[in-house]
Amino acid sequence: MLRYSSLLVLGLTVAAPLPLWGQVSVASPDGRNQVTVQIREGKLYYSVQRDGRPLLMPSLLGFEFRGAPALKEGLRIADTTRATFDETWTQPWGEVRRVRDHHNELKVSVVETAAPNRQFTLAVRAFNDGVGFRYEVPDQPNLAAFEITDELTEFSLADNARAWSIPSNRPRLDRSEQLYSSSPVSVLDSVQTPLTMETRDGKTFIVIHEANLVDYARLNLRGPRMDGRTLRADLAPYADGLKVRGRTPFVTPWRTIQVADRAVDLSPSVLGLNLNPPSVIENTSWIKPMKYVGIWWGMHIGTMTWSSGAKHGATTANTKRYIDFAAANGIGGVLVEGWNVGWDGDWIQNRNAFSFTKPYPDYDLAEVSRYAREKGVRMIVHNETSGGIENYERQIDSAFALYQSLGFDAIKSGYVTDMTSEGHSHWGQYMVRHYRTVIEKAAQHRIALDVHEPIHDTGERRTYPNMMSREGARGQEYNAWGGEGGNPPEHETILFFTRLLAGPMDFTPGVFDILIERGTGGGRPRRPEESRIRTTLAKQLALYVVLYSPLQMAADLPENYERQPAFQFIRDVAVDWDTTRVLAGKIGDYVVVARRERNAPSWFIGAITDEEARTFDVPLSFLTPGRRYVAEIYADGPGANWLTNPLPVTISRRPVTRATVLHLSLVRGGGTAIRIRAAR
Ligand code: NOJ
Ligand code: CA
Repeated sequence: MLRYSSLLVLGLTVAAPLPLWGQVSVASPDGRNQVTVQIREGKLYYSVQRDGRPLLMPSLLGFEFRGAPALKEGLRIADTTRATFDETWTQPWGEVRRVRDHHNELKVSVVETAAPNRQFTLAVRAFNDGVGFRYEVPDQPNLAAFEITDELTEFSLADNARAWSIPSNRPRLDRSEQLYSSSPVSVLDSVQTPLTMETRDGKTFIVIHEANLVDYARLNLRGPRMDGRTLRADLAPYADGLKVRGRTPFVTPWRTIQVADRAVDLSPSVLGLNLNPPSVIENTSWIKPMKYVGIWWGMHIGTMTWSSGAKHGATTANTKRYIDFAAANGIGGVLVEGWNVGWDGDWIQNRNAFSFTKPYPDYDLAEVSRYAREKGVRMIVHNETSGGIENYERQIDSAFALYQSLGFDAIKSGYVTDMTSEGHSHWGQYMVRHYRTVIEKAAQHRIALDVHEPIHDTGERRTYPNMMSREGARGQEYNAWGGEGGNPPEHETILFFTRLLAGPMDFTPGVFDILIERGTGGGRPRRPEESRIRTTLAKQLALYVVLYSPLQMAADLPENYERQPAFQFIRDVAVDWDTTRVLAGKIGDYVVVARRERNAPSWFIGAITDEEARTFDVPLSFLTPGRRYVAEIYADGPGANWLTNPLPVTISRRPVTRATVLHLSLVRGGGTAIRIRAAR
């Protein structure tokens, strides 16, 4: 349903300055979040209040250009319009099935009072879970083609909130694969988004991010570095330092500020999805969430190679073994890395040597396709580009046509470099355009995507549901490489409240061989005391529920799942959800989440902790009244802990109803995974 109420607040002819009239506000449907847009001394600012208290102080808006004066002063408000929108839409797959988009919109058009008299509109949408705004620049004589050198948008925090962050824009280090640290906003240097913050009184959680990044540069934030609390937009550059090239009419991505009273209310986050256009893919029935196994972990622990030779992982015979394993265990897909020519030698340096159509001689594409089809298993093709974008784009049409003809309808891609061969930032407009091209071409060929080393998720999956999952944070692979590179026990309890608010993550959980001593992938030898992944086995299971991905890997070698009763949980766990409820959570400490399987009565619970042992009482009041269920509980076993004894898992079953309160006991670095199915 669409309800528009248009209201002209200011006439076009009001002369500047406008001390009184230069201010206009919009509130969320529940009235709690309010955005005020105002002109002060010719400059445009916005501010955000919650329950009448400031969250963001007046924060500057505007642009600097190459070859044109900055668009930031001598402005007056020319016009305002308002609208209200309330619609509930259905996701083809997701953390939740139904999403309500209920917001009030305010559009404020501003114009320069002197030549060149350029104009733009600030569009603001106020939701109950946060606010978004973007610049809309119409076609106009004095602003046609443009080159942005800086977006001046500020986020001036009212509180010296605690932020969980990873750095951005370090020279030659555009990486999301870093460990988070927490600090007051005032000492931040440069950071990535989503940036999650908690006010010092613990009463408000704020997440700054962006939505609908289509033809622009990725947003990072420049910190105040001890001189205040104002974060500034910091766009990822082209090789020549320029940020964005464009032509009017033009809209920027939405800048989003999610707001919640409690950390548990941040997830699942739908603000960004509501700020993306609806799906352009009419028939989405071919896009299916699934679990997968893959020829992958072996390369990271050094028992197989991507390159040709005696240990080559991607052989036809080995692939059939994985297909058999997937078919026998109800796992939908098989990923094969290292199947294509280009991996021999230094595959990062030799980025232009990759072929995306030519297999190694010991990998028979047609036979793999035939065998997978016979067994009802879907193949995930691997496309590592090493950042050789032109090399990839040259081949993309023929490659995607080949995959479609073979019935291969999913790709895992990779971009393991911090810059393209052309010297552009991995996150700049050049790469934004590339990733978008890949999404569109994949959709044309009915191919779903799982992108590694991606640009952060800005809700693309709403418009292109084939954009299913991505990495974009430190995943399990760091645990294979070991040494100082392994993830600490708190890592996933932070990811849940930061990276995962942007969208699904292909973390690749499910490593059972936690005591592995090997590890050559990172090139760093392990010391004996570092030989273990910092997790219990039960926690690996819980991650399937906690870390949402519609493509969810069982990462370990098939042989490590043989004769493991705990593997039953991975076979059973759902990958597509009707409902999600975060039952408990503290950023960096613990998460307990319950999700109901889509089109089924089953619920799954995942609980994880950091290096501290913790207990939780979980009331099952979300279960359907009058219905009887069985809970299958995979808990840390006697004496388990991540450091010295990670493997014991106790599996128990008990009847439950919505009156039951489950008592969970997590050991240090541990977790609990639960399946609640209807009683037979
Ligand atoms: C990095 C990816 O995250 C990993 O999953 C992949 O195996 C390697 N790149 C090689 O492409
Ligand atoms: Ca990676």
